[in-house]
Amino acid sequence: MTPEIFIKRQCKATFVERKEVIQSLWSGYGEIVRYAITTDLTNPSSSSIIVKHCTFPATTSHPRGWQSDHAHNRKVRSYEVEQSWYQNWASRCNESARVADCYGCYVDDQSGQRLTVLEDLDTSGFADRYVIDNDQHLLSCINWLAVFHAGFIHPNPGLEWPKGLWRKGTYWHLDTRQDEWLAMEEGELKSSAAALSNCLDSATFKTLVHGDAKVANFCFSTDAAVAAVDFQYVGGGVGVQDLAYLLGSALSEKALSENLMYLLEHYFSELGRELMAQGESQAFAQEVIDEWQYLFPIAWADFHRFIMGWSPTHPKNTAFSQLLTEQALSQLRGS
Ligand SMILES: Nc1ncnc2c1ncn2[C@@H]1O[C@H](COP(=O)(O)OP(=O)(O)O)[C@@H](O)[C@H]1O
Ligand SMILES: [Mg+2]
Repeated sequence: MTPEIFIKRQCKATFVERKEVIQSLWSGYGEIVRYAITTDLTNPSSSSIIVKHCTFPATTSHPRGWQSDHAHNRKVRSYEVEQSWYQNWASRCNESARVADCYGCYVDDQSGQRLTVLEDLDTSGFADRYVIDNDQHLLSCINWLAVFHAGFIHPNPGLEWPKGLWRKGTYWHLDTRQDEWLAMEEGELKSSAAALSNCLDSATFKTLVHGDAKVANFCFSTDAAVAAVDFQYVGGGVGVQDLAYLLGSALSEKALSENLMYLLEHYFSELGRELMAQGESQAFAQEVIDEWQYLFPIAWADFHRFIMGWSPTHPKNTAFSQLLTEQALSQLRGS
């Protein structure tokens, strides 16, 4: 099936034209392309859609040299999860946790080729991308996370949850990162990796985490409204996993150390407000906040553990990140 034929069918388009490639997918797994479509011959003005087109090359090349079946399978599964997200979950998002409308998903079982046809968020008013140190953009992302996490909160989920998504969201969690764990230097972080991960897994209050909530995966309007894309690693988790990763992606080490307390307070107050707006009691909201506040350094250290195995010379391995990780390890020692 060509993208053009699938788009025609799903969008009832009379005319489809490939415009530009927005981005190649990681490690040569496909591309994100903009198409112009015309849906009504009597009104020839065209509109625009985005297609995430995933293909699976026979040989994979990775910028850092990690190539294993494991990595390949994780990638394949991530595209499957993203389609499942758009087909079965995305419509449950509160309108303040905006995501793209999806016009159709296709998979060719033989080749593994996948097409996901999405609303073009640029033409829906979200044409801006993050620029460094834009406080308003960052606050909008934090608000998005708070609404998203509140909307999918789930105390004591069963084994089936969340159906069709990763049981554990994020692309860095320990179960899927054994190669990187083995590569870590010996020490307390390595020997505590499983304990950190268990702490997150055994949280009472679970929700869906976006799983790759870096600033590059948000699209902004001129008045800083925001929509999120890239749901390949969405799954069960605790909200602070997304928060820790978002903050690390948005801020320099200095800005992070100066503003962390304020930004955490902002997230937790929005989260509490959202939970109560949804009809939860204040006591419930407070329990969630207390648990996740405790888990913030743990979630931070869990990501830091990934960096220390994957690429210890990475710029994300900062002194401040080490400090937060040390705080998590001392929490573990005390527990
Ligand atoms: N529906 C969309 N509307 C507008 N831009 C989009 C849309 N989906 C993706 N993009 C743009 O393409 C980029 C890459 O898409 P993404 O799904 O994040 O792919 P990748 O998995 O390669 O990161 C995004 O960061 C965003 O800028
Ligand atoms: Mg992305």
